[in-house]
Amino acid sequence: MSVALAACVVLVSLSAGLLAVAAWLWATRRRTSIPGPPTLPLLGNALIFYKLPVLWDRLAELHSRYGDIFRFYVGPKLVIVLTQPEDVKCVLLGSKPRQREPYVADVLRTFMGDGLLSINGGTWKRHRKNLEPAFHIEELEKFMDKFNDAGRFLCELLAEKKGTEVELYHPLMHTALRSVVATIVGVDLEWILPGRFRQAEVVDLVTDFGKTLSVVTLAVSGVETTSCAMGYVLCALGLYPEWQDLAQSELDDYFGTGGDYLRSVTPADVANLKAIDAIMKETGRLFTTVPCMPYLVTEDTPLSGGRHVAPQRSTVLIAYYLMHRHPELFPEPDKFDPGRFLEGGSAKSRKAYSYSPFGIGARKCIGNRYAVLQMKVVLATILRRYRILPGTSRGQLEESVISISSHPITGFRVTCVPREKVPSNSV
Ligand code: HEM
Repeated sequence: MSVALAACVVLVSLSAGLLAVAAWLWATRRRTSIPGPPTLPLLGNALIFYKLPVLWDRLAELHSRYGDIFRFYVGPKLVIVLTQPEDVKCVLLGSKPRQREPYVADVLRTFMGDGLLSINGGTWKRHRKNLEPAFHIEELEKFMDKFNDAGRFLCELLAEKKGTEVELYHPLMHTALRSVVATIVGVDLEWILPGRFRQAEVVDLVTDFGKTLSVVTLAVSGVETTSCAMGYVLCALGLYPEWQDLAQSELDDYFGTGGDYLRSVTPADVANLKAIDAIMKETGRLFTTVPCMPYLVTEDTPLSGGRHVAPQRSTVLIAYYLMHRHPELFPEPDKFDPGRFLEGGSAKSRKAYSYSPFGIGARKCIGNRYAVLQMKVVLATILRRYRILPGTSRGQLEESVISISSHPITGFRVTCVPREKVPSNSV
């Protein structure tokens, strides 16, 4: 037999073997009564996601067609999408430990090593218990100086743009990375990497390749999420100037018009910045940074009041983004209205767990308070100095990618111009 013929025989046998395995996996896939699009043999609904990047509207379309609970198959893998807090509670609350979907955990592990995000079981429980005290509010308030430094650093980066349009992703990542290194690692980034340009190279490294384990662990769980959340808030402030007016007049009232107008933000200040708080919450609702999170179902779990069951070893995708835009949970869901989160606003009496930008249950975000405190300090620092003008349009913000941290494909673009009102003698 010639070598070419032998190679052909091996190739055909291998393909037949693979096909047989794929056919077996397909035939034994998890079944469900939950509605969803028609499937193709072996591929399931994988073609729905063939066009990359996958944008938010892809899941929104399935939601409007199939209702509050729907399914799709990626090959033989059954994925059940949940958009109602009652169903989310069934999966995420309760005494059973929650497991990250193994495929996603493997991907995270490839980039980050064994971080809290990617591990499961007893190891996760031990790590979480050890880390939690470091994220108590009294501990976080010790970082106020570093958060204020982060705000001033971002202002310096914006000043270099001299009032021209800026794409915020890189400056925000640079700021958040410095802040995480200074607070959580406890080292000034300047000591490790003197010079702005070398630091910028690290930001590129983190952004593009994800090479260094510890840096990337921080980058994925803390830096990128905070940067994208800030990007959405700054774009929203540009697009909705009436809310920016409210935030700035609150800052002007609170910090006064004297020589210490630009002083550092304190924990007491943060507690009083109601407009910034409401703007951040509404942005987190409308432009959910972590739009969905997959979990492995460890036992048959009844859903929709017992009408359906999520079979053991299927995947549930908690679609926080769809829940936040559900008209029954948030009236006029597409309207940017931070007033919902102000005193007397409709979101103040919302259904339990309907608003969950940081997740729900035992595996909810450990960095929630850290992120909120840091973002408020940085926003209070920028908004006293700059007026944000719109760049990325509302339509472009809607064209955001489904990823661990969402971001618009056209980037976070704004223009920052110095405010006229800042007292000239302020520090
Ligand atoms: C605005 C910024 C942030 C957002 C929107 C966010 C959101 C989330 C969400 C939705 C989850 C998953 C919850 C779930 O599984 O249902 C999560 C998990 C996690 N986040 Fe955040 N996060 C942010 C900032 C941070 C920061 C600053 C840190 C660290 C300093 C951090 C560390 C983590 C870790 C370690 C986990 C995994 C927790 C576990 O599995 O036990 N996050 N985050």
